[in-house]
Amino acid sequence: MTRWVVPDPKRENWYWPNDAMRERAWVSDPKIYEEAAADPVAFWAKRAEEIVWFEKWKETYIDEPYAYKWFVGGKLNLSYNSLDRHVEDGKGDKVALIWEPEPPDEPNRILTYKDLLAEVSRLANALKRLGIKKGDRVGIYLPMIPEAVIAMQACVRIGAVHTVVFSAFSAEALRDRLLDSGARLLITADGYYRRGKLIDLKPQADQALAGTKVEKVIVVRRTGHQIPMHPGRDLWYHELVKGEKDFCPAEPLDSEDLAFILYTSGTTGKPKGVMHTTGGYAVQVYITAKWDFNLHEDDVHFCTADVGWITGHSYLNYGPLMNGVATVVYEGSPDYPDFGRMWQIIEKHKVTVYYTAPTAIRMHVKWGEEWPKKYDLSSLRVLGTVGEPINEEAWLWYFKLIGGERCPIIDTWWQTETGATCVEALPGIGPFIPTVAGRPFPGIRARIVDAGGQPVKTGEGGYLVLEPPFPPSLLRGLYGDPEKFRATYFGEFGPRLYFTKDGARMDEMGNIRITGRVDDVMNVAGHRLATAEVEDALSQHPLVSEVAVVSRPDEVKGEVPVAFVLLKAGAQPSEELKKELIKTVDKYIGPTARPADIYFVEDVPKTRSGKIMRRILKALVRGEPVGDITTLRNPESVEELKRIVGYKG
Ligand code: WT7
Repeated sequence: MTRWVVPDPKRENWYWPNDAMRERAWVSDPKIYEEAAADPVAFWAKRAEEIVWFEKWKETYIDEPYAYKWFVGGKLNLSYNSLDRHVEDGKGDKVALIWEPEPPDEPNRILTYKDLLAEVSRLANALKRLGIKKGDRVGIYLPMIPEAVIAMQACVRIGAVHTVVFSAFSAEALRDRLLDSGARLLITADGYYRRGKLIDLKPQADQALAGTKVEKVIVVRRTGHQIPMHPGRDLWYHELVKGEKDFCPAEPLDSEDLAFILYTSGTTGKPKGVMHTTGGYAVQVYITAKWDFNLHEDDVHFCTADVGWITGHSYLNYGPLMNGVATVVYEGSPDYPDFGRMWQIIEKHKVTVYYTAPTAIRMHVKWGEEWPKKYDLSSLRVLGTVGEPINEEAWLWYFKLIGGERCPIIDTWWQTETGATCVEALPGIGPFIPTVAGRPFPGIRARIVDAGGQPVKTGEGGYLVLEPPFPPSLLRGLYGDPEKFRATYFGEFGPRLYFTKDGARMDEMGNIRITGRVDDVMNVAGHRLATAEVEDALSQHPLVSEVAVVSRPDEVKGEVPVAFVLLKAGAQPSEELKKELIKTVDKYIGPTARPADIYFVEDVPKTRSGKIMRRILKALVRGEPVGDITTLRNPESVEELKRIVGYKG
């Protein structure tokens, strides 16, 4: 069993790559940081040469306020780089995708690069036949089945813009996204399996379509149970692609052509359509997947994120495929049929890279170490985490129980907006330190600043910002809302500092520790959610007059929403009503957004102008000092709330 790391002799819980790792690593000389810093644009140009361009770019970077561009004039295709490139290199028979269905006795589906190219081509040809053209938006509402990857690849292959919606999102959430993006076609499925149960998907899809521009719905048969099909509108995937040619040439796209839109939560009730373009995204996703996880041809990469999140886009689909490795797609739940499922999958497919979220690790910690101990995890080489700050206990558990103290943990900081990782330790360089993400990836300029945009001293807390040249895969805008794009990311510090909305501190070596969001965005079990979205959903209930939602820390999920609800006159609080409110949240967002606590209250603290002081509610549910309340219109409300929440601050 190969070891890949050694402990630091002087610092407890610090680790470094050993010689075996350094030798195997794509980068092992820390000089890469200085070289890249000296000329980041040249650094990225060099990386871009590693992928295939139909036409080389004319200008590497254009540094225009709010309109930065990368690899300008270059032509390429994400799907070509994911598939054709490997087939043309004679690697068509290599495994590209391993699908693990949830029912343990159902066989795997294994697709080689050749198979995947043929599947993607058939669907791409079918989309063209249905009139989908370059720039058209296509909604994808699919569970974790191979067709999710195939559908995304088919879209980018012909220059259509996919917008993937998490399959556990409700019909309402899907409708909002279809409306906002103006999607003309939807790809969905009959259902899927989760925790041993058959979950219906098609009825939600049907409900979501009213009022949208969707003309055709392609339905993948996954479960085979009876579902309603609307003649003329709904088409079975397997029938549709049957007669199609198994090759569809990849469309040469402009580097700055829109690749996809992915909706994410901001601080308002309305999700934002984050826009990613083709060239910069391809380059940064390709190189970060390669360097962060040290991907080589023989790797089996298992990213546990759903395709509905950016992690599923970049490190389940495009990143591993552009690197020519095998990517594992698991349909179901980590606790089915028992708590050992993920470890069983690692053993079965000899997974070498495992990439998951701290919330998942904390769940495994609770389930107990007997589960991973039952399986042979010696194939693992690199472990990754993403989504939220990882606490020391979870880090050490992951390191010891899963990595056998042999594997580096790559704690990758990034966002839907950055498209690809931006801050992390590299496996051949290190160091690997619990709760510390690492240095900015070479070529990325990150800084910690104070409220005035001035750099803070080493070790001091502040706001994490990115400086130009901005990361090649940074979002180019918010769909249909250029004003909001400017205000959200460049409102605080101007067009030369992209504001991440995360708090952070940096040590002398340049290692960054992320302390968490500084806006009203929560991170619930790795799912990004605005408090305003949950408020919005709850206010749809006819008996709710006013509502405030804040987050409080949770041992497993990281954060959970807590709701303060004011009822309309005459309405009575009850357990029954709490259940109804939870149903309302399920309906408008999905079960991930369910409040952990719902308090029925008479009043919430407000400013004189009537704005709810969420800061105080947050302090109350967290048992923190409430601070000055003298400027409130109703300071007396705070005492009453302390009693209701059982405040022990
Ligand atoms: C927010 C972005 C990027 C894919 C998953 C989440 C938090 C992300 C880390 C990390 C500490 C992290 C930040 C960020 N976050 N990775 N390694 N350490 N915090 O994407 O839903 O867009 O959320 O997740 O707060 O801003 P997202």
